[in-house]
Order: sequence, then structure tokens, then C-alpha cells
Amino acid sequence: MKEQLEQIRKQTLDALGSAAAMPELEELRVKVLGKKGELTALLKQMGSLSPEERPAMGQLANAVRSAIEEKIAEKSEQLKALAQQAKLQAEAVDVTIPGKTQKLGHEHPMNIVLDRIKEIFLDMGFEIIEGDEIELADYNFTKLNTPEDHPAREWTDTFYLTEDSNVLLRTQTSPMQIRAIEAHGVPIRMISPGRVFRKDEVDATHSPMFHQIEGLVVDKGVTMADLKGTLNTVIRAIYGANTVTRFRPHHFPFTEPSCEVDIQCHKCGGVGCPTCKGEGWIEVLGAGMVHPKVLQNCGVDPEEYSGFAFGMGLERFALGSYKISDMRLIFENDVRFLEQF
Ligand code: DAH
Repeated sequence: MKEQLEQIRKQTLDALGSAAAMPELEELRVKVLGKKGELTALLKQMGSLSPEERPAMGQLANAVRSAIEEKIAEKSEQLKALAQQAKLQAEAVDVTIPGKTQKLGHEHPMNIVLDRIKEIFLDMGFEIIEGDEIELADYNFTKLNTPEDHPAREWTDTFYLTEDSNVLLRTQTSPMQIRAIEAHGVPIRMISPGRVFRKDEVDATHSPMFHQIEGLVVDKGVTMADLKGTLNTVIRAIYGANTVTRFRPHHFPFTEPSCEVDIQCHKCGGVGCPTCKGEGWIEVLGAGMVHPKVLQNCGVDPEEYSGFAFGMGLERFALGSYKISDMRLIFENDVRFLEQF
């Protein structure tokens, strides 16, 4: 029995020594120490030993069991450590590899200019009101004192959405004058930026969709001097403090008197060049004193209140502010162009 025990010890310890994975350890444990294991079987034969032999054999059997159990525990620790190491190696991150840089975009140049314009008006106490791009002809034209036979109402000029010409894509932000007074009453000081639509061919200065900023001030005692002071302030904030402006008589159905505002060409200083088409002046916006009929159409008494309104083309301001010569660049969104701002 002694030899058998020694043999079990040697064989098992050798086998454990060369085991390469956890399942092998468990297999060996069952094979030797399990209920039907080799050592267990030997122990069952202890009864057949003489009482003198028994204690020594019992001790030896226990020693063999402990040695095997210890070896299993030790080997199990080793294998676990190896597995952990292999896992760490497999998941190793090389922190010296340069990262993938995320290209960050930024605001579109037109929106940069819009934000600046908004801020200038907010500083002067104006509210900003958003309007819808789909509008009623009544608001886009009629309430703005536009005659029934006005050319802007033609189907060749305006995108109508219904056969009866009642619903359209707004051709200007001016209907927001009416909607703002209807919603907020007077006195009022507001701007309303947004998209407008006209059946224009695309060229360097035209697009069927462009952006306008409408402005409206109505209060008691508002005069043309307020209009000029306000618009000069805005124009000089955008184009530069020394910008020379010119208020030129014009006609709009919803203002009386009406004017167009020009700035002296920032490229040639008024001499005449391709940018100003040889004029020396560049038109930047339309404006005027709100027509009494428009005030009446909104339920405001023109004897008590007066006001001024203006509409400026946002693209044109962006072009002028960045000295860009072709409006198509603003819409094409070519990254090589956008990256420059
Ligand atoms: N709505 C005009 C246009 O699209 C621009 C304009 C002119 C707006 C005079 C105004 C204004 O508010 O008073 O051409």
C-alpha cells in the first residue's frame, strides 16, 4: 500500500506540474481525490491492514492528499495569473499611437454675420421674432398695402402653393410687420430674420431662396431721424465705423416715404469698380416710414402712432462684411470655402 500511495503522489504531482489549463486540474482532482478516485479507493482498503500498520498508512495517505491539494491550489493560482497576463496582453492599448482627430465644424459665415446683427439690435432694445416661411397672400401683400395688380403678385415671380393664389412661400419678411403688431401690439421694436423665396434665376447676386431681416419700430413720435440713426448705427457696426451711407428716395407699397440705403463702395471708396458695378455705391437695404394704411390694417391709429420699417438682405451683408464677390459661395457649402471663416 505504501508503494501505491507513493506512486499516486508522484504520478499526480507530475501530471499537475505539466497541466496547462484549469479543466485539467479539475479532472485530476476528481481522478485522485473524488468519491471514486484512486486515493479514496486505497483508503477504503485501510480496513484490511493490521492495527500496527494502520496509523502509519493513515498518516501517509493524509500527507499525500495534502500534497496533492496544495499542488492543485498552487497550480490554480499560477494558471489564473497566466490567463490574466494573456488577457492583459491581448487587450493592451498602445498609448503612444496618435489619436484620430475629430474635425470640428463651425458656424456658417452667414450665421456668424446674422448673430452679430442680432446682437446689435438686441443692444438697442429690439426683440427677435421668428416667422413662418409659408404665408398667406393677405399678409405677404394685401395688408402691406400692395395693389392687386402689383407685379410681385405674378405667378412668374412668386411660388404659390394653392391654385387660388392665397397661400405662398413668402417673398419677403415684411408680413412679419403685420403679424408682430397683431401678436404684440404697439409700441413695438422688433427684427425678424428668415428665408424668403422668389422665382429668380441663380447668378452671382441672385438665388430663388435667400435671407432677409425685417425690422419694425412703432411708437409715439417716431420720425425719419430715428430711422436714419438706427440704420447708420447698424451699418457702421457691420461695415466699419467710417462707412459713408446715402438715403435715396424709392417706392415700397408699405412705407411712405420710402428709401433705399446705399453704402459707399468698400472696395473702391466710391470711385467705381466691378464690385459696385461702376456706381461707387452699393445698395444694402430698403426702408421707410410705415404707411398709415399698414398701421390701420393692424388696428393702430396712425394719428397717434408712427413708425419705421426696413428690410435687409442677409447674404448681401455677409458678402459685404467678408468682401466675398459671389453669393453662390454662400449656398454651395464647399468646405474649402467655409474653412476660411
Ligand atoms: N420687403 C422689401 C423687399 O423685399 C424690403 C423692404 C423695404 C422692407 C422697405 C421694409 C421696408 O420693411 O420698409 O424688397
